[in-house]
Amino acid sequence: MDPDLKERLRFYQELGISDFYRPEPAAASAAVPNPAPPRPRPAPAPPPTPVFVPGPVTDDLFRATAPRETLEAIRADLGDCRRCQLHAGRNTIVFGSGNPKADVVFVGEGPGADEDAQGLPFVGRAGQLLTEMINNSAAKLNVPLRREQVYICNVLKCRPPGNRTPEKDEIDTCLPFLLRQLDAIRPRVIVALGATAARALLNTSEAMARLRGRWFEFRGARLLVTYHPAYLLRDPAKKREAWEDMQILLGFLYPREL
Ligand code: URA
Repeated sequence: MDPDLKERLRFYQELGISDFYRPEPAAASAAVPNPAPPRPRPAPAPPPTPVFVPGPVTDDLFRATAPRETLEAIRADLGDCRRCQLHAGRNTIVFGSGNPKADVVFVGEGPGADEDAQGLPFVGRAGQLLTEMINNSAAKLNVPLRREQVYICNVLKCRPPGNRTPEKDEIDTCLPFLLRQLDAIRPRVIVALGATAARALLNTSEAMARLRGRWFEFRGARLLVTYHPAYLLRDPAKKREAWEDMQILLGFLYPREL
């Protein structure tokens, strides 16, 4: 079997998806007597109903007309940042990467060892899973989203030592740069990956169980919370819920296709 196909089947099976089918081949010739009627395609399961939780009122007219900063200007302002203690242990600042005009921005926690070495977000094992979550979910639902089309960044731009959980003062120092990035991109949807990103962006201490799989209003965009891919690597049983979240995301982005 094609190794790519094998890998994708493994991913779907981990999500608990087993309804694989092929379209019936066209009848070989009109002379074939009584061809079997085509098997009906099972309808894809409807995505879970999203709950839209209105947040603080945003001034949409202002957002639509206000001049935007560029990501380059924000990166230049960040400079060789020494605003918090994390600068001492980092190799590289991981600003973010992807499409500056993306409809979707994925926000993680902070760079790990691979990201710190390469200067790019989500390039290690968790990043590989994030790529699979985006590309394979889109392929499964037959919509054209690919990782290259989204923007990916983190709450923190520098790696915490030993990948420890970020401290409050580190988040408070770094968050304004993330907010400026989001305002510069103006995505339709922000996906917060895990509790650190969700809590930092929504300014809450709510448990993931109450945040995950729900829509929030955030600075004129919609914000969806899902599990961090590193958590899914530790607890693969949760991939089923992450798949439901991807269906919510893709259902909003591609309402006509789904
Ligand atoms: N985990 C994160 O939160 N961000 C990365 O960029 C990589 C791993």
